[in-house]
Amino acid sequence: MVIAIDGPAGAGKSTVARAVAQRLGFTYLDTGAMYRSVGLRHAQAGGNAGHVAATISIEFEGDRVILDGEDVTDAIRTPEASEAASHVAADPQVREALVAEQRRIVATGDWVAEGRDIGSVVAPDAAVKVFLTADPAERARRRAAQHGLDPQDVLKDQQARDARDNTANRATLEAPKDATPVDTTGLTLDEVVEQVVTLAIEAK
Ligand code: C5P
Repeated sequence: MVIAIDGPAGAGKSTVARAVAQRLGFTYLDTGAMYRSVGLRHAQAGGNAGHVAATISIEFEGDRVILDGEDVTDAIRTPEASEAASHVAADPQVREALVAEQRRIVATGDWVAEGRDIGSVVAPDAAVKVFLTADPAERARRRAAQHGLDPQDVLKDQQARDARDNTANRATLEAPKDATPVDTTGLTLDEVVEQVVTLAIEAK
C-alpha cells in the first residue's frame, strides 16, 4: 500500500510523512532527498545532470541519506543544496531516472512516499493521496525554525523555489484531482497526522 503525500516546500510533508509512517508501521520514502542528492553531486562534479541521476547510488539508512557511500544527510539540507535540487529537478532526464527508481522502491511493501509528483506520476494508483498546503508565511516560518534561519531570507528563497518548481516543472506542483487537500495552516502536527491516518484506515 502506498500513501502519497505531495505539496510545496515547507508545507510540513516530511514531518507529517514520517509521523504517519511510524503510526502505521510503514516505511517512509523522502523523494526530495533523492533530488537533493543529485543536485549536490551535480554541483560538486558538474557534467550532465541526467547522467548523474542515472549513475549515482542513493541509500536510506534509517534517517540518514547515503550518497555513493558518503553520509550526506546534513549536506543536502543547506540552502545551496535546496537550490541545486530544484534546478536539477527541472531536467526531464533527471526526473525519468529518479521516478523509475522510486517506482521500483514502492512496488513492494507499505510506503508513505513524500514529494511533489507521488500521487500524479510515481504512484498514480496510491491508496491514499494527500496534498498538503500551508500559507507561504507559515511555511517560511516553519522552515526557518527548523533550520535556525531568518524567516525573511527563507521566505525569499521559498518564493524563488516555488516559482521555479511551478514554471520549469508544472506537473510537479499540481495536486492530482483525486488527492485530498489538507491545509495545515494553524493545525498541529497531531491533527494533520490524524487526518491522514484516518484516510489510510478508510482506504484499507
Ligand atoms: O521536498 P524537498 O524540499 O526536499 O525537495 C527539494 C526539491 O526537489 C524541490 O524543491 C523540488 O524542486 C524537487 N522535487 C521534485 N519532485 C519530488 C521531490 C522533490 O521535483 N518528488
